[in-house]
Amino acid sequence: MVADPTLKVLVVCLGNICRSPMGEAVLADVAAKRGIDIEVASAGTAGYHVGEEPDERTVATCKKHGVAISHEAQQVSTSDFTKYTHILAADETNLRNLMNIKPKSATAEVRLWGSYLDNKPIPDPYYGGIRGFENVYDQCTRLSNAFLDEVTGDSTKSAL
Ligand code: 4NP
Repeated sequence: MVADPTLKVLVVCLGNICRSPMGEAVLADVAAKRGIDIEVASAGTAGYHVGEEPDERTVATCKKHGVAISHEAQQVSTSDFTKYTHILAADETNLRNLMNIKPKSATAEVRLWGSYLDNKPIPDPYYGGIRGFENVYDQCTRLSNAFLDEVTGDSTKSAL
């Protein structure tokens, strides 16, 4: 029998087509390389793109770095606050929106993803070029390692 992973993480941005599906893919990839058992998903605070595949620039960037990505956009739901152990917001606006819908029964830790490293938001790359997506990729890699360092108490593998 496979044990339920103790780490269940939801990465959240606005549309769930650019940043958070990349964050989901990168965090799962980094955790696998570090041998950490984790469940990762992603969602958007807005519902405009529900059902869509990730933005082609997110897919191209993941592909370039050999990171598998497969996702269908979904909107955050109040049940996510008990389903996940950690909810990681891409920026302060999305963090605020999450806090506004967070139910009293919430058990998940809800934080700016950047708060595990440098308190910086992941800028929205939607209206820019591919370079912005490359920056999101780099940031997701660093933030994945910083998050896993903190929650596992092991920073020795973060240079992998
Ligand atoms: P994401 O990017 O929040 O990283 O998925 C965006 C995607 C769509 C829009 C804005 C940001 N939009 O305005 O449709």
